[in-house]
Amino acid sequence: MTVSLIDRLSGLVGNAFAEAGLDAGFGKVQVSDRPDLAQFQCNGALAAAKQAKQNPRALGEQVAAILEKRDELADVSLAGPGFINLTLTDAYLAGIADEIAGDDRTGAWVSPAPKTLVMDYGGPNVAKPLHVGHLRSAIIGESLKRLMRLAGDDVTGDIHLGDWGKQMGQLLMQVKREMPDLPYFDESFDGPYPAQSPVTLEDLARIYPVASAVCKADKERNDEARRATSDLQAGRPGYRALWQHFVRVSQEGLRREYADLGVTFDLWKGEADAHPFIAPLIEQLEAQDILEESEGARVIRVAREDDKKEIPPLIMISQDGSVLYGSTDLATIMDRKQSLDPDLILYVVDARQSQHFEQVFRASDKMGLFPEERLEHLGFGTINGPDNKPYKTREGDALPLRVLLDQMKAGAIDRVTASLSGKGYSSEELADISAKVGMAALKFADLSNPRTTNYIFDLDKFLSFEGKTGPYLLYATVRIKSVLEKAGSVIDDAPVMIVEAAERDLVLALAGFTPAMQAACDKRMPHILCDHAYTLAQAFSKFYANCRINDEADDGLRQSRLKLAATTGRQLELVLATLGIDVPERM
Ligand code: ARG
Repeated sequence: MTVSLIDRLSGLVGNAFAEAGLDAGFGKVQVSDRPDLAQFQCNGALAAAKQAKQNPRALGEQVAAILEKRDELADVSLAGPGFINLTLTDAYLAGIADEIAGDDRTGAWVSPAPKTLVMDYGGPNVAKPLHVGHLRSAIIGESLKRLMRLAGDDVTGDIHLGDWGKQMGQLLMQVKREMPDLPYFDESFDGPYPAQSPVTLEDLARIYPVASAVCKADKERNDEARRATSDLQAGRPGYRALWQHFVRVSQEGLRREYADLGVTFDLWKGEADAHPFIAPLIEQLEAQDILEESEGARVIRVAREDDKKEIPPLIMISQDGSVLYGSTDLATIMDRKQSLDPDLILYVVDARQSQHFEQVFRASDKMGLFPEERLEHLGFGTINGPDNKPYKTREGDALPLRVLLDQMKAGAIDRVTASLSGKGYSSEELADISAKVGMAALKFADLSNPRTTNYIFDLDKFLSFEGKTGPYLLYATVRIKSVLEKAGSVIDDAPVMIVEAAERDLVLALAGFTPAMQAACDKRMPHILCDHAYTLAQAFSKFYANCRINDEADDGLRQSRLKLAATTGRQLELVLATLGIDVPERM
């Protein structure tokens, strides 16, 4: 399908406007606000009448009279001040269904102007376990990556590991306290350093919170850590070698955690990989006379006259000579521009970091590195606890992702066991189904909320088999599979017939995929795709309840219904896969 149903109808109504001597652009069609009255509507007569200084109702009637002659339309009527209501003939709709069925993408939208993109998501930090905030970045970023690839964009996903900030110096100094005799701290040691890491992932998870607490409480220890950070960045060999171990050990753990989530990155680069770009960046900034001194630091001023709130300068080099979060982000833009030359760079990061990105984007624009219109911060809201505040541990830290995943896993096992045990499933299959149900619950709950809003983590609601949930969608998809299995085979070229209202509605729902996917891509909003999945699953439910499928006596009708079921199943699986949700074989 290259042109969606809604675009075809807009073209058709546009032609009618043109025939009436008006701009074809007024023909834009949308799904009807009143599905009880019509399937589609066009509101263009109102604007057209205003422009042509005519009566909207009269003009609407004129356009409607032209449209009435079209074979595609079963009914054209005028409502209110001049809305044109449209209902398609079943024959035309059946043809649309045949087309969607014949498309191996079941109507997935194709971008007319594919782009090269970098998707920066994940953003975990070395030595720190993933927390709930990283979950949203991973889930939303992964689904946007899949969505845009499906549309035809060339997307490179980059994890952008936090491996270069002040916590690195804090870790180095804490390890030094605990194991002072390691060669990494001996300045006279001339290598080679041990290949084996002196710390494990568990060690890091224990050391990091200690290190950070000490530095917060003790100024001397904090200064020491800051010096260590700047020595590390300046290339002190022992620090670099030990830091390499931190990064490698952390990466191993992170790879496992992301694999459990079904999230993959093309690039495992980190802030440190941008370091070689810092010197050329500074050189360019100096040549452009953009860098300013401020309290011992070197900064880029990014405030603008019309700013409603104050935007502080971006600090490129701190007082003690180290680079910070903003400088590595700016240097990373230089790296990406040189290595990937993207049209756009998208950052899927907590909305609370909006000021940071505003500073980086403006600095990039100001120095002519990469225009700010091609840098987008796709912020997301927080996952909240029952008190509707960001989910925290009792100690007040962000909740570790493990804790949340374990809760979800336990809940899914309970739910699945309650509904499936004693029905002939092996324990391995039950475990597989539970894992998929848990992931679907978590991902769908996250993605179905508009990206920018906060939501409350509500295990029972997310795991429910009814309502707008991941498990419901899995259930609907699996039910389709079982209908098809019972039938044995589906004849692809059997023509679709529309007899019942539920069949009509199912075809309309299938045709809604293309515009939903286009809107989800354009707005970078996966929840629009979630809405479509739910609408489609509900339409199938109604179809299943109202129409005989396998036991329909009329052969042609049975084939038509099987084909509709198969097409719905394929589209639903494609949408779920794009959301990062795996479907079990049966449940
Ligand atoms: N490591 C950061 C954090 O945990 C997120 C990094 C996001 N990406 C970026 N390019 N700044 O807050």
